[in-house]
Amino acid sequence: MKEEILEQNRKSWDKVAHHFHGVDTLPSYGPFAQTEDELELLDDPKGSKVLELGFGSGHSLKYLKDKGAQELWGIDLSETQKNIAGKVLAGLAPHLFCGAMEQDHGLPVDYFDLVYSIYALGWTTDLSGTLKLIHSYLKTGGSFIFSWDHPLYSHLKSESGRVYLESSYQDEGQKVMENFKGEGAEMVVTKRKLSTYINALIENGFRIERIIESEVPKELKHVEAEISDRYYSLYKAHSFPTTMVIKAVKE
Ligand SMILES: C[S@@+](CC[C@H](N)C(=O)[O-])C[C@H]1O[C@@H](n2cnc3c(N)ncnc32)[C@H](O)[C@@H]1O
Repeated sequence: MKEEILEQNRKSWDKVAHHFHGVDTLPSYGPFAQTEDELELLDDPKGSKVLELGFGSGHSLKYLKDKGAQELWGIDLSETQKNIAGKVLAGLAPHLFCGAMEQDHGLPVDYFDLVYSIYALGWTTDLSGTLKLIHSYLKTGGSFIFSWDHPLYSHLKSESGRVYLESSYQDEGQKVMENFKGEGAEMVVTKRKLSTYINALIENGFRIERIIESEVPKELKHVEAEISDRYYSLYKAHSFPTTMVIKAVKE
């Protein structure tokens, strides 16, 4: 079943790859959320070995290279994204793998200073198995940082600006999206509660250092937002976090 979901999602990610070109990439942690410049979650990247799960267009790895990272590694399900990222990272000798983050690709263990994922971890079909692998890749003292939709956010809908619960936050499990990005791409995502992420991190040996429930960035704080029912909007972000960001450490 997991293999079938991964195969379906892989085809769909290839189809929609062009929508994700430098969109949710560092220094951004997510739509209408504070950026790395404001949150300062990263330890100094100079000389570090970094691994991104779901690297998309590769712009986050490029950002870390520009900040002095020494080795760039990444895993992404989509071959199309791998080809795009290969171009974005041309000349930087990246180690890019096409595959699922929840599967073992023989990456080095006790090796990375930083493993991170910007709006991709939530696509895993096996959260605990993925965190176990991430823990193994990290050096002791290394950090894992990820951002994802705030777990309540995906249950919210709005009509003429009035926000309501479309589905129960209590319902965890798979949700099928039949027309992702309007491209007829079928995608399966797993809904999880905030506590599910936190407990899975703790159970896999991480110490949680920071949890961010996003606010609108400084430069947008005083911008009045027009009423909007879009999935991501400044209007909604003024009253509810779009994004959660968690920084955890391997002790
Ligand atoms: C929303 S995009 C974000 C990517 C990146 N932050 C960007 O904006 O370019 C999610 C990425 O995760 C990848 N992905 C989805 N499921 C995955 C999985 N199970 N293992 C590895 N990568 C996955 C997709 O191919 C896609 O490139």
